[in-house]
Amino acid sequence: MEMTLAIIKPDGVARGLSGEIIGRLEREGINIFALKMIWMTKEQAKGFYKVHAGKPFYESVTDFMSSGPCVVMVLEGKEVINAYRKLMGATDYKEAAKGTIRHDYATDIEKNVVHGSDSPQSAAFEIAYFFNELEIFKR
Ligand code: TYD
Ligand code: MG
Repeated sequence: MEMTLAIIKPDGVARGLSGEIIGRLEREGINIFALKMIWMTKEQAKGFYKVHAGKPFYESVTDFMSSGPCVVMVLEGKEVINAYRKLMGATDYKEAAKGTIRHDYATDIEKNVVHGSDSPQSAAFEIAYFFNELEIFKR
């Protein structure tokens, strides 16, 4: 079993897509281990996306991520990192496969509705960035 960090980004929350996205996860049989709503400051968004520091889109994406509330979740499942990345679709919604969340809902390469960790290392960093151990429900 693996864990990953998922975010419904400010555009997804503002457009009322949270229920639809959570429903897709549930229908795929992915366990939601932890879930809450947050509103990042610019500094917190910069820390979250620090792997992208210095890239041309860093300022803009961190403005966007701190522009409104997000839903953050810890997902658990077999190979869930890749399974959830597949459900999300490509970063650029124009390249995202049919039936993926980004294909169906994204409006822009930046405003692409959802985030998902891309490796076990980034999942560990990102889960710990938002959740403490008490908040992650374990059986
Ligand atoms: P990245 O980690 O490359 O994509 P993903 O979310 O698929 O893991 O980039 C992080 C976010 O930065 C991405 O979701 C949207 C934004 N972004 C841009 O605005 N422009 C770009 O050219 C890229 C690559 C990303
Ligand atoms: Mg990424």
